[in-house]
Amino acid sequence: MRALVYHGPDQKAWEEAPMPVIVDDTDAIVRVDAVTICGTDLHILKGDVPAVTDGRILGHEAVGTVESVGAGVKNVAVGDHVLVSCVTACGSCRYCRESSFGQCLGGGGWILGHKIDGTQAEYVRVPFADTSTYPVPEGVADEDILMLADILPTGYEVGVLNGKVQPGDVVAVVGAGPIGLSAIMSARLFSPAHVVAIDLADSRLEAAKQFGADIVVNNGREDALAIVQELTGGLGADVAIEAVGVPPTFELATQLARPGGHIANIGVHGEPVTLHLEELWIRNVTITTGLVDTYSTPTLLRLTQGGQVDAGRFITHHFTLDQFEEAYDVFSRAADTGALKIVLTPA
Ligand SMILES: NC(=O)c1ccc[n+]([C@@H]2O[C@H](COP(=O)([O-])OP(=O)(O)OC[C@H]3O[C@@H](n4cnc5c(N)ncnc54)[C@H](O)[C@@H]3O)[C@@H](O)[C@H]2O)c1
Ligand SMILES: [Zn+2]
Ligand SMILES: [Zn+2]
Repeated sequence: MRALVYHGPDQKAWEEAPMPVIVDDTDAIVRVDAVTICGTDLHILKGDVPAVTDGRILGHEAVGTVESVGAGVKNVAVGDHVLVSCVTACGSCRYCRESSFGQCLGGGGWILGHKIDGTQAEYVRVPFADTSTYPVPEGVADEDILMLADILPTGYEVGVLNGKVQPGDVVAVVGAGPIGLSAIMSARLFSPAHVVAIDLADSRLEAAKQFGADIVVNNGREDALAIVQELTGGLGADVAIEAVGVPPTFELATQLARPGGHIANIGVHGEPVTLHLEELWIRNVTITTGLVDTYSTPTLLRLTQGGQVDAGRFITHHFTLDQFEEAYDVFSRAADTGALKIVLTPA
């Protein structure tokens, strides 16, 4: 088969790779019908994720068709059409039993395209198939369901649910990439009074309007804090969501939240950030962070099937699998290309 193989920082190729085989009896082999690229894959290519070593097939998001299953797989059968989630769950460890699948102790967690070969290939081995795949609902396009492999549960769980968004809230989202846009879209499920999107790129702010932000702020030329304070009678946002992953945006999120408010960090941070407890201690704020667990995937599947979540709105580009390197190029130049999510399918 062919696959997108990592060969060290800045080096990758769509090349011949061995067909995956069943290793454990809880595995399934899935033929990839639709796959996408994540910002995290770009981090890997920069060399920021040292656990990913030369020869690793990248990718942790896919929709596909089950080709074969191990003897221990009970609920997934050959021919089933499934979503392959970015988080794998053993289903029986302490964390899995608390639905904290991202913290799985039994060999799961974020492993695809990280610790084991991933989904950017014609076929992928999916461990713990019963608890790590979801049936694709009837009547919904593969590519829409593909958005539930990572970005939608991440924005919803780590942003909106951790941030405890309530009806009538003012929600400020710093960063309007696919993750921030997921948070904006899923915050709307709770009928907030206002959703303020803050980004440096006007193209991303235009997208934010389409996804449900009613106020957009380019903090390269506007004062986001002043705008949010004016909107809230000087108090600040009920919920501030950080979806970038650099020190200035985390600090901005902490300033944007009102006393008693929530600050939900989604961004993956590569360097230390100053926590201004000398200002925050008296403000009764709650700060949360986290890796996505994907416990909300069944809910998001129903919301997508029911039309309350328009998952397909993220998709800006289509390619075939043999165009993977071109797709990476378009995705990595998002500011120029307007890319949000790219879908690749077999030729
Ligand atoms: N916690 C998790 O489980 C999890 C899962 C997936 C991704 N992430 C992280 O979420 C973050 C966002 O992911 P993404 O794919 O949307 O990334 P992205 O790079 O596509 O989007 C980031 C956005 O932030 C904007 N930005 C950059 N600097 C800014 C600044 N100073 N002020 C305002 N906006 C600024 C950019 O213009 C861009 O639109 C990343 O750190 C990613 O690694 C976390
Ligand atoms: Zn991802
Ligand atoms: Zn587990």
